[in-house]
Amino acid sequence: MNRPKLITTCLAATLAAVACQQSPNSGGTSRGLKDALKDKFMIGVALNESQASDTDSLANALVPLHFNSIVAENCMKCEVIHPEENTFDFTKADEFIAYGEKHNMFIIGHCLIWHSQCAPWFFTDSTGHDVSAEVLRQRMQRHISTIVSRYKGRVKGWDVVNEAVESDGSFRKSKFYEILGKDYIELAFRYAHEADPDAELYINDYSMHEPGRRTTTANLVDSLRKAGVRIDAVGMQGHMGIDYPSVADFEKSIETFAATGAKVMVTEWDMSILPTVHKSANISDKAELKPELDPYKTGLTDSISNVWNRRMNNFMQLFVKHADCITRVTAWGLTDKDSWKNDYPVEGRTDYPLLFDRSGKPKPFVKDMLEQ
Ligand code: XIL
Repeated sequence: MNRPKLITTCLAATLAAVACQQSPNSGGTSRGLKDALKDKFMIGVALNESQASDTDSLANALVPLHFNSIVAENCMKCEVIHPEENTFDFTKADEFIAYGEKHNMFIIGHCLIWHSQCAPWFFTDSTGHDVSAEVLRQRMQRHISTIVSRYKGRVKGWDVVNEAVESDGSFRKSKFYEILGKDYIELAFRYAHEADPDAELYINDYSMHEPGRRTTTANLVDSLRKAGVRIDAVGMQGHMGIDYPSVADFEKSIETFAATGAKVMVTEWDMSILPTVHKSANISDKAELKPELDPYKTGLTDSISNVWNRRMNNFMQLFVKHADCITRVTAWGLTDKDSWKNDYPVEGRTDYPLLFDRSGKPKPFVKDMLEQ
């Protein structure tokens, strides 16, 4: 081979590699996931603050191409948007909404009432004691109606109450529950509906495949709907592990929730590839880092990658099978590097739970969907 040709060949290869890194879209096709799933359900993604601020070039290459719905990973949670009783901070939430509107997305607000990431002022008076039921109701109403009215007609669906039920089917003993009993759930839905009568309203929880949570959630939705409370969908978060849940258990819950007449949404889908520490996504359940819990620091083996892709594909097929009641599937993060699972329940691990790898390339099962 003569020298100029070698140089030209190398240059071409380098340019191709750079181009590939700069616009890592659907793995060689301009077809997005939203096209592959057209006629089935919306496909969404949770955005972090930097992605929602429209400055992340990788996100800008992937999000509008593949997704038609977005949800805020953190910026609408109470501690961010309503950090003090008389302070609302909409800076990040406004950016998130602007991003969604720019790209014509179905925008989801997450979340109005949740025990976690709730600002501490919410439950206490100036002496540090729990507020009365009446004061908590007023605070909830102000919180919900201020946020929902600000984004009226723009946020199309709200996770109104997040994680109200425990695995055994009892109600979570959150401060909301301690002070107001389970009525806080109905109140939250009523306040949200008053503030935007057209918005869809959802109840959302993790480990929805568990029988206790499944039954209590379905009964709750039934009774709320019978009482005339607007509740459009049950959100199954879908934080999964490599060994849980089973497709059959998840399917049973989809069917049980659909039987209430509500829609079903998979709202926070990810699947950890790492050894399971807790079969749950309870935010306060942390564990210590040990080397055996972090086996893929430098990369995945083909065999574990195959297991993960097969399992993800099985769940995707399940969702497609139930596309009559499932109206949205949302991934909890864009690429593996963005995932909360790298730090939960063990801080500092290297996980691979999302649809796109760290460089933005679609995972094999996603690539297959794009090429079909
Ligand atoms: C997570 C975020 O991804 C993290 O960045 C944050 O530190 C903790 O919360 N269930 C939910 C989400 O409803 O709001 C949580 O998001 C993950 C579990």
